[in-house]
Amino acid sequence: MSVQDDKKRDFIPFCRPTIGDDEIAEVVDCLKSGWITTGPKTARFEQDFKDAFGPEQEAIAVNSATAGLHLSLLSLDLQQGDEVITTSITWPSTVNNIVICGARPVFADVDKDTLQIDVEDVARKMTSRTRAVIPVHFAGAPVDLDPLRQMCEARGVGVIEDAAHAAGTAYQGRFIGSDSQVAVFSFHPIKNMTTGEGGMILCNNREQAARMRRLRFHGISRDAWKRYSKGGSPQYEVIEPGFKYNMLDMQAALGIHQLRRLSEFNRVRAKLAQDYMSHLEDVEGVMPVMPPSYPHEHAWHLFVVRLELERLRVDRDEFIAQLQEEGVGVGLHFPAVHLQKFYRKQYGFTRGQLPNSEWNSDRLFSLPLYPGLSKVDQARVVETLEKLLKRNKR
Ligand SMILES: Cc1ncc(COP(=O)(O)O)c(C=O)c1O
Repeated sequence: MSVQDDKKRDFIPFCRPTIGDDEIAEVVDCLKSGWITTGPKTARFEQDFKDAFGPEQEAIAVNSATAGLHLSLLSLDLQQGDEVITTSITWPSTVNNIVICGARPVFADVDKDTLQIDVEDVARKMTSRTRAVIPVHFAGAPVDLDPLRQMCEARGVGVIEDAAHAAGTAYQGRFIGSDSQVAVFSFHPIKNMTTGEGGMILCNNREQAARMRRLRFHGISRDAWKRYSKGGSPQYEVIEPGFKYNMLDMQAALGIHQLRRLSEFNRVRAKLAQDYMSHLEDVEGVMPVMPPSYPHEHAWHLFVVRLELERLRVDRDEFIAQLQEEGVGVGLHFPAVHLQKFYRKQYGFTRGQLPNSEWNSDRLFSLPLYPGLSKVDQARVVETLEKLLKRNKR
């Protein structure tokens, strides 16, 4: 075995989907069925998902959460000059979609310890132009929804929840999505459940949901399954120009079985997270992101830590390069969006505007966390982390 092979074998990936025989059999069934794009399996997956997380809600399967966020914002008919408040500690598509829909992104800071959007700062950032808020349920823990919703309702401002990390998350005993105006979930391969790529919108408004469903597929009145299946008719009518954001049955085939396994996946994630917490409690130089203090069920999508840079001779980027070199894969969730090139240039965002977001953005990274992570590998992650913290100590 070459040195390179040996290194490869030893590398602990940051994430890895858990795909079983049931998922594979369902995909094969789909491939053999003669219908592989949006159809009966997507309809079943939508039904199963809403049964699990929002029986009263409308469910719309899409080909990514990014597409779901785009449709959600489009359904608000934003006008030039409208403002949408969100967090800077998120994946760029949360914010990019605001810009793409012609509105102005406004950032509220996050809580320094939980990295959830600071609801009081959202209140400070509200103006007469605010049309919506997009809170992100960061890392699988929920945002403090009750005060946020109360404030938004009082002002007639929409709430679109970025629930990309929140499949199985609960807030005050209620699943995320179960009572949301709009919540958008992601099934990207690193997420708690996957469809390869994919997303799901849960929405409490029938008309808005019907519009998003239409915009998901060219803005026409009927999807392909209804036009080509037995008893269907091939005619269609364009109601408004739309997109090609539909989920394939091949993807839904995976989702149907991933959903059934989700609570077990999340149970294992929670155990791994608890183990990280207890191992890292007394380790100098690193601070895990904390779960919020209000009642919740954490889906543990990510285990994010922050480096105490004041104790170290290297910055975060150098530190994670060393971790990778030692065979530990890590993620970055997330470098602050307001400091990305486009946002600095277009809107003049600078350092100093969001102190907690910036402090965290410089220090954070995510450790491997997935149901297939063995105890041995998790122990190696912790040992390597400790070794490098000692090696780089100031
Ligand atoms: C917070 C957040 N929002 C949105 C997305 C977009 O999800 P997708 O990759 O399904 O488009 C992601 C993906 O990582 C995310 O982490």
